[in-house]
Amino acid sequence: MVGAGYVGLTTASCLAQLGHSVIGVDVDATKVDHLNSGVIPIVEDGLESITRQMLDAKRLVFQLGYSDSIKSAEFIFLCVPTPQDEDGSADLTYIREAVTSLLPFLASGSIIVNKSTVPVGSTLVVEEIVRREDIFVVSNPEFLREGSAVHDFLHPDRIVVGSSDRRAAQRVADLYQSLNARVIICDPASAETIKYAANAFLATKLSFANAIAALCEHVGANIDDVIEGIGQDKRIGNQFLKPGPGWGGSCFPKDTRALVKIAESAGYDFELLRGVIDFNEIQFDRIVDKVRKAVGGTLTGKNIAVLGLTFKAHTNDLRDSPALRIVEHLQLQGATINAYDPTVTNPLAQVNICKTPIETCDMTDAILIATEWPEFVSLNPSEIGKVVRSKNMIDARNILDADLWRAAGFTYQGVGR
Ligand code: UDX
Ligand code: UDX
Repeated sequence: MVGAGYVGLTTASCLAQLGHSVIGVDVDATKVDHLNSGVIPIVEDGLESITRQMLDAKRLVFQLGYSDSIKSAEFIFLCVPTPQDEDGSADLTYIREAVTSLLPFLASGSIIVNKSTVPVGSTLVVEEIVRREDIFVVSNPEFLREGSAVHDFLHPDRIVVGSSDRRAAQRVADLYQSLNARVIICDPASAETIKYAANAFLATKLSFANAIAALCEHVGANIDDVIEGIGQDKRIGNQFLKPGPGWGGSCFPKDTRALVKIAESAGYDFELLRGVIDFNEIQFDRIVDKVRKAVGGTLTGKNIAVLGLTFKAHTNDLRDSPALRIVEHLQLQGATINAYDPTVTNPLAQVNICKTPIETCDMTDAILIATEWPEFVSLNPSEIGKVVRSKNMIDARNILDADLWRAAGFTYQGVGR
């Protein structure tokens, strides 16, 4: 497993759990040391315990960089990052570097499995670096949500394997046999497209939900009821429709932009997806507008309490977090920020990081719930009301009981409520 990040570490530990022997390779020496002593650097439900069990069972070991031990590997998974390039396309530098470093250690008959999210055609890019007929390259995208990655790995909706060699694809699919999941074997371009299409569709669903929430505010409807009403239609489904401050994280923003770029390079203008991305930026602005409206029309000199900084709850990941984007906009308009997140202790530029929600709210002009951490649901409005300068609540995750907060004298704004 090359790259022991969110995806690689989960995949390494879970494949070991399924009975395979796994070597996790990473270029970060400190990370490798920590992992070998069972300390994992991310918040991921159940992952530390599986990792420790697998280390103890000697089915999992981590090593720094590439060495002869890789020669025994039948499968080499690539889980290195594919960050956004300046123009929005996916940068394949780490993939190229990893494959080039692997070249001296590839055993005949082994399979390179691309798990990183890569542009359509990247299987060919890897094949061209390897240039060996006895090595196969297979695409096997991941669909793991941070925070529930272990659960998602062990209970997949489907396993997708893309290869021009049916036998190689089947060998990869067999690694997951004990999960009894539906397996889709297809050509590499289709497998790569499935990954992008899945994330783009989910992002579209969310932008749509946020747009309907905006409409609800205009027409006096309640988004909670509207979502329930449409979600009962099996063709729509009731998942992934919660309105919020906009979507973020390490995947959706980069993958949607990359897909627009992939389409553009192939001569297709993916106008719909461009709209979905643009609308997400508008959603950040809409939340900032709500805060500005709450504090009387100008943010200059106002002190705002931001509860939650991660891109969603149950992770410590700040990558492309909507909360941070909104904080940035609030600061640009002259506000100062107190913030609290249960997983964030390190300093953040010009943000006063507090230790508790109550400390965060002290002498603030408005409170913004930016991440849906469960502990915010049980905040006590009368206690909070005693420490704030003005009683304004902007619940960008719709997790609070609006009546309760209004009864305590707060103005309450949700999203589409
Ligand atoms: C993954 C995928 O690889 C990415 O394509 C997908 O879209 C999102 O998930 P993720 O696991 O989140 O990325 O990345 P990260 O947590 O940054 O971990 C990457 C790991 O690879 C790090 O531990 C890093 O040290 C390691 N790495 C990076 C290498 O071992 N070699 C490199 O050349 C670069
Ligand atoms: C996503 C995909 O779900 C996963 O399949 C893929 O492999 C990696 O990218 P992740 O980035 O962990 O996973 O986050 P996800 O749970 O999908 O949430 C993405 C964003 O959408 C978050 O900002 C989240 O808060 C937001 N969201 C999600 C909503 O606003 N409402 C919802 O109903 C669901």
